[in-house]
Amino acid sequence: MPLACKALQKPKAAMAIINSASTKLRWILAPLLVLAMTTTRVHGQPSSTSGFISLDCGKRNNTPYTDSSIRGIQHQSDAGFVEGGLTHQIAAVYMAGAPYESQKTLRSFPNGSRNCYTLPSTPGKKLVRALFTYGDYDGLNRTMDGSPFLFGLHIGANFWEAVNLTNWDPSSTIWKEVLTVAPGDSVSVCLINFGTGTPFVSALELRPLQDSMYPFVNSSVSISYFRRIRFGQATDFITRYPLDPYDRFWEGWSFSYNTYPWMTLNTSSPVRRLPGDNTFQVPEGILQQASTLDTNFSFLEINVTVGPNLDAKNLELLPIFHFAEINSSNPSRRFDIYSDNELLFPDFSPSRFQVDSMHQNGRFLHNPAAIFRLNRTRRSRLPPLINAFEVYSLVRMDNLTTDSNDVNYMKEVKKHYNLARINWNGDPCSPREYSWEGLTCDYSKSNQNPRIVAVNLSTSGLKGGLVISFMNMVSLENLDLSHNNLTGAIPDYQIKSLKVLDLSYNQLDGPIPDSILQRSHAGLLDLRLEGNPICSKVKDTYCSNKKKKTSTVLIAVIVPVVLVSLLVVMGILWKLYWKGKSGDDEDYAMYEEETPLHIDIRRFTYAELKLITNNFQSIIGKGGFGIVYHGTLENGDEVAVKVLMETSIAESTDFLPEVQTLSKVHHKNLVTLQGYCQNKKCLALVYDFMPRGNLQQLLKGGDDYSLTWEQRLYIALDAAQGLEYLHESCTPSIVHRDVKTPNILLDKNLVGVISDFGLSRAFNDAHTHISTVAAGTLGYLDPEYHATFQLTVKTDVYSFGIVLLEIITGQSPVFMDPQTVHLPNWVRQKIAKGSIHDVVDRRLLDQYDVSSLQGAVDLALNCVENAAIDRPTMTEVVSRLKTWLPAVSTDKQSTSGTPRLSNAESSFQSSGYTDGNGMSQATIFSGR
Ligand SMILES: *[C@@H]1O[C@H](CO)[C@@H](O)[C@H](O)[C@H]1NC(C)=O
Ligand SMILES: *[C@@H]1O[C@H](CO)[C@@H](O)[C@H](O)[C@H]1NC(C)=O
Ligand SMILES: *[C@@H]1O[C@H](CO)[C@@H](O)[C@H](O)[C@H]1NC(C)=O
Ligand SMILES: *[C@@H]1O[C@H](CO)[C@@H](O)[C@H](O)[C@H]1NC(C)=O
Ligand SMILES: *[C@@H]1O[C@H](CO)[C@@H](O)[C@H](O)[C@H]1NC(C)=O
Ligand SMILES: *[C@@H]1O[C@H](CO)[C@@H](O)[C@H](O)[C@H]1NC(C)=O
Repeated sequence: MPLACKALQKPKAAMAIINSASTKLRWILAPLLVLAMTTTRVHGQPSSTSGFISLDCGKRNNTPYTDSSIRGIQHQSDAGFVEGGLTHQIAAVYMAGAPYESQKTLRSFPNGSRNCYTLPSTPGKKLVRALFTYGDYDGLNRTMDGSPFLFGLHIGANFWEAVNLTNWDPSSTIWKEVLTVAPGDSVSVCLINFGTGTPFVSALELRPLQDSMYPFVNSSVSISYFRRIRFGQATDFITRYPLDPYDRFWEGWSFSYNTYPWMTLNTSSPVRRLPGDNTFQVPEGILQQASTLDTNFSFLEINVTVGPNLDAKNLELLPIFHFAEINSSNPSRRFDIYSDNELLFPDFSPSRFQVDSMHQNGRFLHNPAAIFRLNRTRRSRLPPLINAFEVYSLVRMDNLTTDSNDVNYMKEVKKHYNLARINWNGDPCSPREYSWEGLTCDYSKSNQNPRIVAVNLSTSGLKGGLVISFMNMVSLENLDLSHNNLTGAIPDYQIKSLKVLDLSYNQLDGPIPDSILQRSHAGLLDLRLEGNPICSKVKDTYCSNKKKKTSTVLIAVIVPVVLVSLLVVMGILWKLYWKGKSGDDEDYAMYEEETPLHIDIRRFTYAELKLITNNFQSIIGKGGFGIVYHGTLENGDEVAVKVLMETSIAESTDFLPEVQTLSKVHHKNLVTLQGYCQNKKCLALVYDFMPRGNLQQLLKGGDDYSLTWEQRLYIALDAAQGLEYLHESCTPSIVHRDVKTPNILLDKNLVGVISDFGLSRAFNDAHTHISTVAAGTLGYLDPEYHATFQLTVKTDVYSFGIVLLEIITGQSPVFMDPQTVHLPNWVRQKIAKGSIHDVVDRRLLDQYDVSSLQGAVDLALNCVENAAIDRPTMTEVVSRLKTWLPAVSTDKQSTSGTPRLSNAESSFQSSGYTDGNGMSQATIFSGR
C-alpha cells in the first residue's frame, strides 16, 4: 500500500459511523438549542409547507400549533387519522428536556395485531417519517427490562421496517423514514404487534416530494432511510426544514468528529446543480460544506454497519454520494469509490462548485458490509472529499392494495353500521394475514389488486336498513348478513355479481324487489330470507329454511329462460328487418305532412341523416336527451348529429319553437345549429362538430396531457361569455339550465363553445328530470332552485361556479374522499385547513399564477353561494375573469421554488464523544 496513510497508525479508522439508522436523540441540551437559534435566524422566504402533515400522536388538544423549534410547520393531533389506541404522556422526568413538543405524547396500541393511520395525500412521491420516544410512558421501564421490545411498521400493505427498542435508553428517540409513491389520495402507515411489546408512535410526518426526485422509487419499490449525512462543519445534530424544503433529516457529521485527521471545507460561493437536475435537490447550504482529510492521508471510509435497530438479513442498500469541489484553488482531486471491495465509481473527480450525485441508477447492493471507501488515486494531488451521503434500504412493494372501489364501499359499510371491529383496519385484503375478519378476497390475478368476493357479517349486531354499498361491489359474490337486526325494505337495486344473498333472521319487511326476485327465480341468485317478517306474506323457497337443491332448480329455470331469450332476440331481429326495409319510405312520406319551419337553417330527412352519419356508426356522446353521432356533410364539413330519444318525441310539442329560437342565437362561444330533422320518425339537431371533445374529457384526460392554467382560464372565459350572451343578449333571457363540463365543447383551437342550451326548455319537467339523472348533472344543481323551483339566470351562475371549480381542481362535482363529497364543500374545507394550493389540479404541476388562482377560487365560490342574490351576474363573472388573463399570459410564474437559506435551523442539539478505540459515534450525551 505505497500511498496509504503514511502518517496514521490506524488509517481505517479515519471515519466510522455506527449504529446506522437507529440514531439516538436526547433533549437535555435543548436550552442551548434555543440560544443557538436566535443567532441563526434566516433571511429569505420560508419555503412552502403545502402538503405537509405533522401528527403529534396522542395529543388530546385538537388545536393545531407551531412548534417553536421547527419553524413554520403546523402540527396537529392524530385524532381523526387513526381508530383506537390509547393516548399517553412520557414520564415527567423526561418531559422538561424534550425539544419537540410532539415527543411529549404518544399513542399506544395494546389491542389488535395491526393498527393503521390513514394520512391524506395526493398521488405521487412522498416522504413518510415516524418518530418513537418511549419516555417510560407506562412506568414499566420496558426498554430496559431485558426482554425484547420489538414491533413492526407497514407502509400500505407492505412491510417497511422493524422498530427495536430493546436495551434502548428511554429518553432517546428513533426515527424511521420511507420514500414511497402514494397510490391514491391517502397513505397508510400501520403498527404491527409482534407480541414483543406494545407498539406505539410519537409523531408521524408526511412530506411531498417532486416526482422527478429519487427516480428509482416507483409503485413497486420504496426506499427506507438508513443514513443521511451532511459533512463539514454542521453545528446541528439534524438539519431539516426550512434549509431542506422537503424536510429530510440530514445528520450532521462534525458533531461526531473530533479526531485527527479530519478537515472541513466551506464556501460562500454558490454550488449549482446542472440545469434540469432535480433528482436529489440537496440543499445548497449543505453542499457548501465538505469534509476531507489532511493531505497525507489517502482514503476515507464511511462505516454505516448495521446496528441493533436494523435487520441485517437480506439487506439491500442503495448509496448516493453527493460531491462538489469547493476548494477555491484549482486542485487535482481524484478518487475511486468502493463498497467493501467492489469498485462502484473509478477515478472520480468532483466538479468545481457543481454537485455530482453518484448512484448506480437505482441498483441495490446485496448484503454489503455497509462500509464505503473513497480511495485517492495515484494521480490525485489531494485526498478525497465528500459533501453529503445518503444510503437507503430496499422496501419491496409487492403486495397490492385491495381494489380502491371495494375499499371505499367497505368503508361505507363500516361507517353505516358503526362497526368497531378491531381488525377492520388498514387495507381489507392485504397483506393476507392481516385481512379483515369476515372478508374473502380473490388474490388469483397476481398483477391485479385483490378483490373482495365474500362478506360474512352474520350475527354482527347490524341495525337499520340494508346498505346499498354492497350492491355496488362488482366482484362480490357471497353476502351473508343473517342473524342481525336489519329492518325496512330490501332496496331495489341492480345486483351485479351476487350469487348468494343470505338475509335470513332479520327484521326485513316490504316487497321483494323484482330485480332480486327475477335473479332468484332464474337461479342466478341463492336468496335466503327465512326468519324475516317479509316471509309472513310470501311462501316461496327463499322463505323456507330448507336448503334448495340448486341443480334441479337451475335446470328448471334455465330452459325457460333460454327459450324466452330466444324469442326476444328473434323479435328484435324481426323489428330491425322491418325497419330497415320500409323505414325510409315512411320517413319521406312523413316529411310532406309536416309543415317546415320558416327559418334559414337546413331541414334534414331521416335518410339524409343516415347517410351523413354513415348509418349512425360513430357515437361521440350520450346524454339525457339522446345520442350524438359524428357525421360529414356533402361539402366535407364535420357535424355532430344529436338524435333525441324516441320517448321524447311524442311529447315534444315545444320542439319547433325551440329550434326557431336556437337558430337565432349566434355567438362564437355557442355551438352553431346547422339544421334539424323533425317528423314522426326522427327528431334531431345537427351542430358543428367540435374536434377536441368536451371539457370534462379534457380535464379528466390521462396524466400525460393536461390543460395549462392559462388555457383553463381562457376556456372558463369562453363559457362565461357564451352564458352572458344567453342571459343578457336574448330577450327573454335564455336559461341554459344544464351547464356542466360535458356541455362545454372545444373546437380545434381549444375555444370553449357551449352546447345544449335552450334544449331544456323544450321539454317538460319529466324530461329534465331524466336529463339530470341520466347525464349525471347531480352536483351542478342550484340549491335554491331545488327549494323553490324558481328558474333564473342565477341557476346557470351556480352551475358555472361548479364548472370553474372543476377547471381549477380537476375534480368531479361529486366524488369520494372517502365519503361522498360535493366539490364546493371540499374546496372550502381544504382552504380552511391550510393552503389554497391544496385544491389545485395536481396535473398543473405548480405551474400557475398565484394571484389569478386566488381570484378564480374566490369567484367560483362566489358563484356557488346558496342564495341566488349573493351570486354575481355572468357579466360580472366575465369581467372578473378578464382581469387575470393578461396576467397569466405575461407573467407565468411558478409557485414552487427552493428559496435559499443561509443557515439551518437545528432540531436536536448534540455533542459527540470518542470511544476507547478512537472511533467517533453518533451518540449524544444526556446531561441528566
Ligand atoms: C486504494 O488505492 C491503493 C493505491 O492507489 C490500492 O493499493 C488499494 O488497494 C486501494 N484500496 C482498495 C480498497 O481498493
Ligand atoms: C464499522 O463499525 C462497526 C461498529 O462500530 C465496527 O464493529 C466495525 O469494526 C467497523 N468496521 C470497520 C471496517 O471499521
Ligand atoms: C430500569 O431497568 C434498568 C435495568 O433493569 C435499571 O438499571 C434502571 O434503574 C431501571 N430504571 C427505572 C427508572 O426503574
Ligand atoms: C406480502 O404479503 C405476504 C402474505 O401476506 C407476506 O408474507 C409478505 O411479507 C408481504 N410482502 C411484503 C413486501 O410486505
Ligand atoms: C434488537 O436489539 C437487541 C439489542 O440491541 C438485539 O440484541 C436484538 O438482536 C435485536 N433484535 C432484532 C430482531 O433485530
Ligand atoms: C334485535 O333487537 C332486539 C331489541 O332491539 C334484541 O332483543 C335482539 O336481541 C336483537 N337481535 C339480534 C339478532 O341482534
